[in-house]
Amino acid sequence: MPKQNAGFATRAIHAGNEPDPSTGAVAPPIFATSTYAQEELGVTKGYDYSRAGNPTRTRLEQNLAFLEGGIAAPVFSSGMAAVVALCQLMKSGEHIVASNILYGGVPRVFNQVLSNFGLEFTYVDPTDPRNVERAIRKNTRYVYLETPANPLMWLTDLAAVSEIAHKRGCEVVVDNTFMSPYFQQPIKFGADIVMHSTTKFLNGHSDGLGGVLVCTTKEQAEKLAFIQKAAGAILSPFECWLVLRGTKTLAVRMKQHDANGRVIADFLSRHRKVRKVFYPGLKSHPQYELACRQMTGFGSMVTIETGSLANARRLLKRVRLCTMGESLGGVETLISHPASMTHAALGAVGRKAIGLTDGMVRISVGIEDVEDLIADLKQALG
Ligand SMILES: Cc1ncc(COP(=O)(O)O)c(C=O)c1O
Repeated sequence: MPKQNAGFATRAIHAGNEPDPSTGAVAPPIFATSTYAQEELGVTKGYDYSRAGNPTRTRLEQNLAFLEGGIAAPVFSSGMAAVVALCQLMKSGEHIVASNILYGGVPRVFNQVLSNFGLEFTYVDPTDPRNVERAIRKNTRYVYLETPANPLMWLTDLAAVSEIAHKRGCEVVVDNTFMSPYFQQPIKFGADIVMHSTTKFLNGHSDGLGGVLVCTTKEQAEKLAFIQKAAGAILSPFECWLVLRGTKTLAVRMKQHDANGRVIADFLSRHRKVRKVFYPGLKSHPQYELACRQMTGFGSMVTIETGSLANARRLLKRVRLCTMGESLGGVETLISHPASMTHAALGAVGRKAIGLTDGMVRISVGIEDVEDLIADLKQALG
């Protein structure tokens, strides 16, 4: 295991990736096994059943904990499974203060599934931390944030909100999917749990789903390990291996994502058919200073206002190199329509309340040659 003060790329490549002790294999083996031979009653080599633990999963969990600066990183079968596992730590009657701008699947599971089990949710605009303070109640367990938030790219001041939450005895959970630990490490600013859809930048190749909850306390780690074993929404050994392979190149990929993201955001901000660009790396972003304080790069998620559904539809239909589809964070550029895709479940009223229009198009800028991406967007915008 490299030292915590080794560089990011070094840690990403080596943490959890020590050569296999039995063969010397440099690439970690995929332990495709459901169970493990036991030597005698109660005597194992550390594993008894793959829902409870698997060596490939252990490697990934060590890797992700190390990268985010946590002590453990239980992984789940998708980002949404991780969100549900978090809520399985709660009791009926407890409350979450959540950001009003989140990936649409999160309020969907909160409102349409978990509220049926007695969990309570209040949504606030966390760009003003006082809104979080006002919404915290005696029964509030977590403040749940996503920064930058999908798809409007608003940021939350993590240090300010963490201070408020901690004073009131709540834990702060941050979805760090858009930035990855390469550009933002929420634990440094006071977050108690960091969530990722590993499906996105951590895996990086659009070939598997996954989720993680990076823990900062032994209590969280033990309880979530129990949820993995008891509820069972764990990540398969093969998908653990894919993410483990993905994080080896996270540093180089994120540098290129960021470089391309900046160029595309700048190009779009000067295009006459684009009304507005939402990207924290533009000096015109109202929270540009916070972005510089809290993040070490701006990433490659860019949202634009095309002015109407018809304009958005036209752009999405005309792109040739950019692929229209859900998801983000892969090496290939993906382009999507948040109102009818990722945020459809919010409904028209919910979308209007957060300023998400039918004319918005979200681009997850990949790491192709940026000139080719510009040429494609130029011809598609027409
Ligand atoms: C920011 C963010 N968080 C969470 C999720 C949910 O993750 P998954 O699709 O892996 O369940 C997504 C999915 O798009 C997302 O974009």
